[in-house]
Amino acid sequence: MNDIKEIIDELKSRCDIVSTISQYIEVKQSGANYKGLCPFHGEKTPSFYINTSKQIYKCFGCGEGGDVINFVMKMENLDFMDAVKLLAKQYGIEINTNMDEESKIRIEKIKRFQDIHIEAARFYFSNLISGKNYGYEYFRKRGLDDKIIKKFGLGYSLASWNSLMDYLISKGHTKEELVACGLITHKEEGNKAYDKFRNRVMFPIFDYRGNVIGFGGRVLDDSLPKYLNSPDTLIFNKRQNLYGLNFARKEINTKTIVLVEGYMDLISLYQYGIKNVVATLGTALTEQQGMLIKRYADTAIISYDSDAAGIKATLRAIEILNKLDISVKILDLRDSKDPDEFIRKYGLNEYKKAMDTSIHQIKYKIDNLKQNFNIQKDEDRMKFAKEASKIIKELKSAVEIDYYTKYLSNQIDISVESIKREVYGKQYDKLQNKKYNKFEKYSNKKEDKTIEKPKTIINGEKFVEKNLIKIILENKNLRDIALLKVDENDFLLKDSKEILNWIIKNQELDKITIDKTKSLNIGEEYLRDLESISLESMNLQNVKSIDEIVKNVKKNTLHEKMNRLLEEQKTIENNKNISYAKEVDGKIMEIALKIVEIRRMLQRL
Ligand code: UTP
Ligand code: MN
Repeated sequence: MNDIKEIIDELKSRCDIVSTISQYIEVKQSGANYKGLCPFHGEKTPSFYINTSKQIYKCFGCGEGGDVINFVMKMENLDFMDAVKLLAKQYGIEINTNMDEESKIRIEKIKRFQDIHIEAARFYFSNLISGKNYGYEYFRKRGLDDKIIKKFGLGYSLASWNSLMDYLISKGHTKEELVACGLITHKEEGNKAYDKFRNRVMFPIFDYRGNVIGFGGRVLDDSLPKYLNSPDTLIFNKRQNLYGLNFARKEINTKTIVLVEGYMDLISLYQYGIKNVVATLGTALTEQQGMLIKRYADTAIISYDSDAAGIKATLRAIEILNKLDISVKILDLRDSKDPDEFIRKYGLNEYKKAMDTSIHQIKYKIDNLKQNFNIQKDEDRMKFAKEASKIIKELKSAVEIDYYTKYLSNQIDISVESIKREVYGKQYDKLQNKKYNKFEKYSNKKEDKTIEKPKTIINGEKFVEKNLIKIILENKNLRDIALLKVDENDFLLKDSKEILNWIIKNQELDKITIDKTKSLNIGEEYLRDLESISLESMNLQNVKSIDEIVKNVKKNTLHEKMNRLLEEQKTIENNKNISYAKEVDGKIMEIALKIVEIRRMLQRL
């Protein structure tokens, strides 16, 4: 089957939402429907319902709802296509998109490589658990129990040159493919081939779906290299994968992920009960890995080693994650050299506490910078203040700038004022003037001096949209930013769309007053609303606040679109008996797909 719509049709006709959901939670029949405890929020009395005739679920407690695909997406933390694939596999629906010969060969090869890796992992595992051996002793010595060994499929490569090679060849694999998988090393000289991993404890590396795609192997003593990893192969790239993500993605509840440096740290934390944890694979964090994190989390807690290399890696990771707009905190390991040592020494609760009190990246960077200066000396203190101001400058939120300015000021006894001037540059004085002018304007009425206008951004549905239009009209800087992010489809009101398109054509103008848009056919009420909005009453100093407004506008529009689709769906369903036809089902499916797409867009916001 190659048409996605066809696949989804087939999927929905074949799979029963009740049986899929009961694989995850217990449900009880209640009339024609089923109910149970909602898996998406904690509750003691069931408010999660499955409507069997519509094949949808809905929780009246938390509002979560959708079809079987949404359910699997949410439970397994998968994107749409992966959820479809997972269900298709369960229900035996074949998906073969129109592939050319070359891709088919490639996919078959990937499949064979994965099989080889699974067989190798089983082989290493059985070496470890059947009978006494150094590998098992090693893991026990490091505090791992049988359960965790099994969970992570840990293993042992024998102290032999060819045990894995012989085994896999006996299973029908060719030497060439084993070399291409990086499990066997081939030396041109003398045409010799031998096992790459020997006398090492073995860590199978999984991709986020749980396929074995490579291995890491650690020596049992202090010899070097300490760890050997699979080379990059058709199925493995260490820069694109995160160790442990296959487990962690099911455990991320508060959109927070812990990042550690290595296999042992991760497994150790997991064994103690910290399960939302992933590890890089012997390289600095890459942007691709950052993007994997972003799929599941919006906050990362970095818990790297406390040595110089760990600090360097932390600073690198902060930069990467910041670029992706993931907020970063850094965990303080106190006197321990790594998370493994910490959790063994102090236990789960202390680690959790350390997670809760992990420090904001800016503070981390400032504290770290401070080490380079002797702040008893005036000259050093000033240099430090300047450098630290640069760090604070990276912040977008005025509240955060304020907070860290005070933090810095307290540390070095330099006034908040001068640090702010350093942070904002010339802008700072302008900003101060503006504040002053604002009061001037009202100064003929004495009492107004004391009245601060509300600084909150008004959030009422269509009002947000008009707010944004007003900003785009009047503030050239924010307009430039906003125009990168919106187009007319993001607006609900016809008038907003019209003004936006006009602005796009005239974006070079500095400040656009409303009467410049008179040539357009804008409704009177709309214009009146625009007039009544004052930019001054919004807290707009930074990029983040415009981001927020754009996000709200998009959200409103998407919600409205979704409501309309749901209405449409309802109408069609209600009339279904009268005009039953295949087209009707097609139409329902089309709407369902649109709804799913909108949900995804909302999730991404
Ligand atoms: P560490 O040296 O901190 O290792 O390297 P570790 O995880 O604490 O290992 P133990 O506790 O001594 O067993 C961190 C990570 O860097 C990679 C591995 O992925 C390791 O887990 N590494 C380290 C290598 O790839 N090769 C090496 O030689 C060393
Ligand atoms: Mn360690």
